[in-house]
Amino acid sequence: MMKARFMSEVFAGRCALASVLMSATLMLGIVGAGGTAHAASAAAVSPEALEKGARLFVKNCIMCHERGMDNPGTAALSYLYGKGKGALADRDNLTPDFVRYFVRNGRGLMPAFRTGELNDEELKVLAEYLSAGPHPATPEK
Ligand code: HEC
Repeated sequence: MMKARFMSEVFAGRCALASVLMSATLMLGIVGAGGTAHAASAAAVSPEALEKGARLFVKNCIMCHERGMDNPGTAALSYLYGKGKGALADRDNLTPDFVRYFVRNGRGLMPAFRTGELNDEELKVLAEYLSAGPHPATPEK
């Protein structure tokens, strides 16, 4: 629980930083450029990358994060965020950095994945896939 609280503070801190940067951007009057860059990076995830990300998700994560309370990841996250909000594939608020952090560091029952298990390139694709959610049609195991 302490750890969870620490994490939310870390992420709250990050949001605060983001809003400071955002207002700095506004003051400089280049918010249009920033907005375009963001949209471009979201659109840059190709269908091939999404498919690859989905495959990596099924291979490495779905045993704990598939929909259904009998999956430990989904059960733990439902407990944290509320019923029906536990499946990673249903999330619309994941970011690549957030996903990478948990995958590399683990938390609670979730193991940390080392580069030998999931290399940086694979993790990038997987994190982009999850961040592009929700994915109503997640492939089955
Ligand atoms: C052995 C089971 C297990 C595996 C395998 C696993 N996870 Fe998890 N994951 C969990 C559990 C349990 C939690 C909740 C941890 C907690 O808060 O105590 C979690 C939490 C997370 C979170 C945090 C979500 C949030 O909003 O708090 C992310 C992101 C995540 N997992 C991504 C992944 C990805 C991506 C993979 C595959 C590379 C993966 N997990 C593999 C069990 C697992």
